[in-house]
Amino acid sequence: MASGAASGEQARDPQSLGRLESAAVELPDDAELFVGPDADMLNADCLACHSPSMIRTQPPLTRDQWNAVVIKMQTAYRAPVAPAEIEPLTDALVRLKAAG
Ligand code: HEC
Repeated sequence: MASGAASGEQARDPQSLGRLESAAVELPDDAELFVGPDADMLNADCLACHSPSMIRTQPPLTRDQWNAVVIKMQTAYRAPVAPAEIEPLTDALVRLKAAG
């Protein structure tokens, strides 16, 4: 390929990259952990796959709906929810949402 060397040179030339500007990026609070009395359980059981904000920004769900979410996470997606944790976790999610 005759043009290979030429384009390789160009890629190493900083001028060819154009002007780089730093942008202020607002990241979701993905680094955050849940805090509070239920935090250990929520952090251990949900944060492997979701950010706290993903869970906090769910539409208002009833207790039964949260219970169904927890069971679905456990059975369909293999979330590490022990059977004995299903009810306490459901309560924790209802409290979490009630707290805003
Ligand atoms: C092993 C990974 C995993 C874990 C752990 C997990 N989830 Fe999920 N969750 C998923 C996947 C995959 C989806 C489906 C995403 C989609 O459909 O876009 C999902 C979807 C959801 C949804 C969206 C509504 C729905 O029913 O699809 C909610 C709410 C949710 N998870 C909450 C939780 C909560 C609360 C926990 C902790 C008990 C949890 N998840 C733990 C993988 C996980």
